[in-house]
Amino acid sequence: MPEVTLVEVGLRDGLQNESRILSTSVKGQLAGLLMDAGVKELEVTSFVHPRWVPQLADATELIRTLPDRTDVRYRALVPNQKGLERALQTNVDEFAVFMSASETHNQKNINKGIDETFPVLQEVIQEVQNQGKRVRGYVSTVFGCPYEGEVPLSNTARICNRLLEMGVYELSLGDTIGVAVPNQVKEKLKALTQEIPAERLAGHFHDTRGTALANAYVSLELGITTLDSAFGGLGGCPYAPGAAGNVATEDLVYMLERMGVSTGIDLKKLCQAGWLAEEQLGKQLPSKVLQSVAAA
Ligand code: HMG
Ligand code: MG
Repeated sequence: MPEVTLVEVGLRDGLQNESRILSTSVKGQLAGLLMDAGVKELEVTSFVHPRWVPQLADATELIRTLPDRTDVRYRALVPNQKGLERALQTNVDEFAVFMSASETHNQKNINKGIDETFPVLQEVIQEVQNQGKRVRGYVSTVFGCPYEGEVPLSNTARICNRLLEMGVYELSLGDTIGVAVPNQVKEKLKALTQEIPAERLAGHFHDTRGTALANAYVSLELGITTLDSAFGGLGGCPYAPGAAGNVATEDLVYMLERMGVSTGIDLKKLCQAGWLAEEQLGKQLPSKVLQSVAAA
């Protein structure tokens, strides 16, 4: 098995979907625990409209409280120029733009049609590149849309190619509502890698129906070695009804390490972040490994 890069998205994808809003200080503590556990790629927040996602309204303050760490990359989502202007007031290392492969989810999530979105993202990507930084592109609803059902692969391929031309270095393919199953993932990703090198792709699997770990494994077999995950199995998109948590980082780390793939993450230390989140959110989180360590 090749080396794997894990992108920890729990502070962003996870907390954006929680009804209880955590304080900036607790988020900072969680970030600290994740970094102590060895997380190097840390998606911290997003600079979206605070009315649309109040859970992340403290994006600027949060990033300002984080320590300067040259060994950790702080990442943030930016939907448009306004979001980028806010993000550039902080020391974000890497940015991510996002859109959907299905028209209706794109509209509900960012209030624009797919074709209207390209010029907005083009401007953002250009400006980030002028700053000498990297931009990732997320494509949502690749494996199914809560409003439109099946989404043709041609939609995803068109958007991916366009975003690459515009300058993103990587595309994270989202199973936003966790409907994907391994043979579908294999078929779609195999077809996509005919056009786009696997090194440019990442897997972003939500675990709504318990298939995320299997889907992550299939992606690895196809040479897609960057995977997004969320500590505790937090996650969901507020504008995708039915979306539940991302694949849990604990579960993915456990599986990979047992397979002989080094992740650089200390599982016991990682659990500290999950337990703090459980305490602060007042509920048990879905990660299976987190529960098994707690019970041991
Ligand atoms: P809009 O209302 O269409 O924005 O929202 P607008 O451009 O028409 O501007 C309206 C007002 O909002 C203006 O203020 C702007 O300045 C302000 P006014 O002039 O009226 O006073 N504004 C902003 N303020 C702060 N920050 C900004 C910003 N932009 C405009 N960035 C917008 C468009 C994209 C902002 C909105 O739809 C939005 O915030 N959407 C966010 C939705 C979201 O965060 N979804 C979850 C993340 S995506 C996800 O989870 C999927 C993923 O995990 C992958 C997967 O699982 O598939 C990535
Ligand atoms: Mg997501």
